[in-house]
Amino acid sequence: MPKTFYITTPIYYPSAKPHMGHAYSSIIADFFARFKRIDGFDVQFLTGTDEHGLKIQRSAEKQNIEPLEFCNQISKTFRDLSQTLNLTNTDFIRTTEDRHKKTVQHLWKELEKNDDIYLSKYSGWYSVSDEAFYNEDEIEDIDGIKRSISSKSTVEWIEEESYFFRLSKWEKPLLKYYETHPNFIAPESKKNEVISFVKSGLKDLSVSRKSFSWGIKVPSNNDHVIYVWLDALTNYISALNYPNTDDVLFKNFWPASIHLIGKDILRFHAVYWPAFLLAAKIELPLRVYGHGWILSGDEKMSKSKGNILDPIEIIDQYGLDPLRYYLIKEVSFGNDGNISQERLEDCINSDLANNFGNLCQRVTAFAIKNCDGKIPSEIKFQDDDLLILNKFKNNLDNIRSKIDCQNINFYIDYIINSLFEANKYFNDQEPWKKKDDLTRLNTIVYTTLEIVRKISFLLYPIIPESSLKALKIFDIEENKIELHTITNNEYLTKGNNLNKIEILFKKIEKNND
Ligand code: MSP
Repeated sequence: MPKTFYITTPIYYPSAKPHMGHAYSSIIADFFARFKRIDGFDVQFLTGTDEHGLKIQRSAEKQNIEPLEFCNQISKTFRDLSQTLNLTNTDFIRTTEDRHKKTVQHLWKELEKNDDIYLSKYSGWYSVSDEAFYNEDEIEDIDGIKRSISSKSTVEWIEEESYFFRLSKWEKPLLKYYETHPNFIAPESKKNEVISFVKSGLKDLSVSRKSFSWGIKVPSNNDHVIYVWLDALTNYISALNYPNTDDVLFKNFWPASIHLIGKDILRFHAVYWPAFLLAAKIELPLRVYGHGWILSGDEKMSKSKGNILDPIEIIDQYGLDPLRYYLIKEVSFGNDGNISQERLEDCINSDLANNFGNLCQRVTAFAIKNCDGKIPSEIKFQDDDLLILNKFKNNLDNIRSKIDCQNINFYIDYIINSLFEANKYFNDQEPWKKKDDLTRLNTIVYTTLEIVRKISFLLYPIIPESSLKALKIFDIEENKIELHTITNNEYLTKGNNLNKIEILFKKIEKNND
């Protein structure tokens, strides 16, 4: 049985075109998906678009087109973005698809059957922008406009007949679950917020709307559409063909290994979603990780704030891998991070061009000139060589366990250190002075090439295209990238030809005025 791993991104509202925050969630998910794949896991990676609700209906009305047509257009830009970001998602779900609607209606019936849903009347504050209900104490009044304190979006008062989910009934089971599954919510700081929210008392949740029609109908009452969050969260299992629990996708991949989301939607994923699942007697995902925000000038990037950075523009200017590297390295994972062009350029120049690109160029150029363009055959490792090579072997289990705790910061620091050490090793060993001791010269070259290979394997989840370009030196193809082989110090076939490669990263000329 292969080991399996199921990772999801949030499904994005196609109410406007994608921005850097969306790109961030997707790139991080892709990083984990690729890492797990090269570590031998069978990976299911889901992303998609969340297309129902009043927010989408209003956006479509503004443009005077039918909601579905509106969604078709913008959902496509998200699908295209997945390709532009070089994501390896195995599925792309749209909540307007039949496969999804069927699952949502089935889940609704299950909740109804288990007496977790009842009809009553809702009155309270609602933010269309967040598609969220807020209590009185979660609202502030600024210049006569009522807003959510946490998201700052405006709220409106609604009063209508609504179905309710008995969320209150799940307060204690949820608290018990958090206690017995301490890894369910991450990072730790966010977990405490969720727990105190639940401890402060859960009220039943309005899960249907009657005053608009753009949504999935309540099966037993077509006057109501299902609350967009109950609809949206279900995507994680509709993509696995639930309720067909015998389906190979559901069997292999549920419960999800991790739902990766932004911290603003943690409550939905760590409170509502597990409560729905408990009520429907479905296993809970193993982890929900609420990452930080990409800030632009200290504020969350969002359409309403008009401070959006367009990922496509950055990619056009600098290329995709520099953006992926930058987001993964510079935004300390779990915290907010400010994005700046200046820091992006620094990353390209120092880490990518100087540290990685230069190491690849230097050692191949040297080997082409001094080792007949081949991977050296006559080698004899000394302590210095084994010391640096064995660090990979000695750290592999640690790297794996850090990734299982989503400690991306450790991973990237490990790579940067390894690059630094590799450059230092090559400099200190001075192979250019070893021309009368060819075994020593060959061994230094072989060792450095091995390190380039190992680091390129580790860089593959972060900068896949550049890692593959570097691996062309050895004719190593994507399907040969297997993480466990970084423990092998003589993986490279001696005597094979080495290929010259193009410059991996162009340095950015900086104007220091
Ligand atoms: N449709 C819901 C999610 C449903 S999941 C069952 C939604 N969509 S969204 O398009 O508004 O946001 C999607 C994700 O992008 C969220 O995880 C949100 O946190 C993330 N980001 C939106 N802006 C962001 C930043 N500026 N920075 C980082 N991520 C942020 O919410």
